[in-house]
Amino acid sequence: MCGIFAYTGAKEAGNLLLEGLVSLEYRGYDSAGIYTPESGVVKTPGAVGALRKKMPKKYEGKSGIAHLRWATHGEPTEVNAHPHTGSGEIWVVHNGIIENFKELKGVLEKKGHTFASKSDTEVLAHLIEEHMKKEKNFEKATLKALNQVRGTYGVAVQYKGEPEKLIAGRMGSPIVLGIGKNENFIASDPSPILKHTKKVVFLNDGEMAVLTPKSHTIYKLTKELVKRAPEELDWSPEEAQKGGYEHFMLKEIMEGPEVIENTLRGRLIPEKGMAKLGGLESVTKELAKIERIIIVACGTAYYAGLVGEYMLEEFAGIPVEVELASEFRYRHPVLNQRTAVLAISQSGETADTLEAIREGKRKGALTLGIVNAVGSTIARETDAGVYNHAGPEMSVASTKALVSQLTALTLLTIFLGRQRGMSAKTGKEIAKELKALPKKLAAILSGKEAIEKLAKKYSGARDFLFIGRKYNFPIALEGAIKLKEISYIHAEGYGAGEMKHGPIAMIDENFPTFALAPKDSVYDKMLSNIEQLKARKGPVIALANEGDKEIGKLADDVVYVPKTLEMLSPILNVVPLQLFAYYFAREKGLDVDRPRNLAKSVTVE
Ligand code: AGP
Repeated sequence: MCGIFAYTGAKEAGNLLLEGLVSLEYRGYDSAGIYTPESGVVKTPGAVGALRKKMPKKYEGKSGIAHLRWATHGEPTEVNAHPHTGSGEIWVVHNGIIENFKELKGVLEKKGHTFASKSDTEVLAHLIEEHMKKEKNFEKATLKALNQVRGTYGVAVQYKGEPEKLIAGRMGSPIVLGIGKNENFIASDPSPILKHTKKVVFLNDGEMAVLTPKSHTIYKLTKELVKRAPEELDWSPEEAQKGGYEHFMLKEIMEGPEVIENTLRGRLIPEKGMAKLGGLESVTKELAKIERIIIVACGTAYYAGLVGEYMLEEFAGIPVEVELASEFRYRHPVLNQRTAVLAISQSGETADTLEAIREGKRKGALTLGIVNAVGSTIARETDAGVYNHAGPEMSVASTKALVSQLTALTLLTIFLGRQRGMSAKTGKEIAKELKALPKKLAAILSGKEAIEKLAKKYSGARDFLFIGRKYNFPIALEGAIKLKEISYIHAEGYGAGEMKHGPIAMIDENFPTFALAPKDSVYDKMLSNIEQLKARKGPVIALANEGDKEIGKLADDVVYVPKTLEMLSPILNVVPLQLFAYYFAREKGLDVDRPRNLAKSVTVE
């Protein structure tokens, strides 16, 4: 996610804005920029340190806008960095994705606008300048422009001709105003504001605010005035970075619905049951000829790959193998031009996954990536790929990235399936249910207190078994890794069909099991697994679909989740397990975000 910070008041804006950007670096960055009407614009790849170095000694201005970019479109270069302008009159910093920027750009080019970058944000600056020609009024021109934009934005806008004035706008990406004494602020989150003032106003979607040093006025995009009193935030800057949550992990779990929306944004054509994946356009023809896919990944990303195997084979009809990247690179895999090697990696820097991709390339395979970090090594070294758009994941335990990886794999399944035997009807069904997932996930998250209670009840356990079948077998594995990596207890994930082949010997009253039993094609088998566990006095927590009357008679505890398509159920079912692991570790007083012995990105072998 990009970071926005803007100021208008009596202090020197340059240094104040740079300091504010430092507190936003946790949001991820690959380039930075600043603008004041007095001293103009400075932009650079890299972080705040690189920007500070590039700024002239004398950089003046009592107002300005600044930005840290987490690239979603266009490489992290100076020209793509924010702030963006049209002719130097209007300057914009933006967090989000303007979906109709190409359409708007075409209209503006016909009116004589020329563009310096490929950025969607630059289009907004030109659009406001175009409206200024007629409206001759900064607020009106900005209001008109924002009403034409489709997609998501959190913006701060400045006009050279009225240096004291700032305009903020919010649609889908958070924007908060800081209300100080004869000074006002705009930011993506409160962290850069709190050292100046604790009085803040959070904008809602579809609102715009006009700020001067002594005033702030909020309008709806429909022009009605909004009256909203500032609230006092007693957060520390670190708490502000966590959005008021105790840990990044909980914040990132709670971002799940928005992450699904951002991964899907602009990539579904529901009326055709198709997926549009810009990052694969260059290899569409090769993909149509692919006869086999090998997915390579590590840890949680590997479990995402296991789910991908089920959906790609069932719905795209392509043979898939999923390999631990750390094994694949030492095997002698038989690959050829008809094989695609697909890397899944949140960081895009995992050494084993990177080497696995290089091995695939050496053997002439088409290499693809599903990566969250734009411009990362894996993203750059694969032939093509799909960015997650999940925003930076700070907690070592991967949560929202997995939700995004599963969503991206579903898009890939539709994309490849519709190149092969998948009917438009099936594509439409999947697309329709994908769009319903954010609401269903929000419903699960609204019941997080019940999972917190459950974690407390079982927090004395020294061992835990997670079992599932088919699409939920990988989710059982994921539930186990989530619990073990942040609570340090012994936790194992198993295919439920394997119980009789060994694991059931471990079961007694001190060895609880989390059994994933949604109403799907293997539900009855899961019921008998639960009976076998109960017969050995093993405590059982069942994950089941709402309305299931059977399961409560068997299991000791039940976590209910909304029903969805079997292939999409992992996206919902994994989240209660993430919450369970989080509350379990928190109950034990452990450092949830930075568990011992682990790094966020394993860039060494
Ligand atoms: C997940 O909770 C772990 N922290 C770890 O297994 C992680 O998924 C693995 O290291 C892969 O990382 P990547 O997705 O950045 O490649």
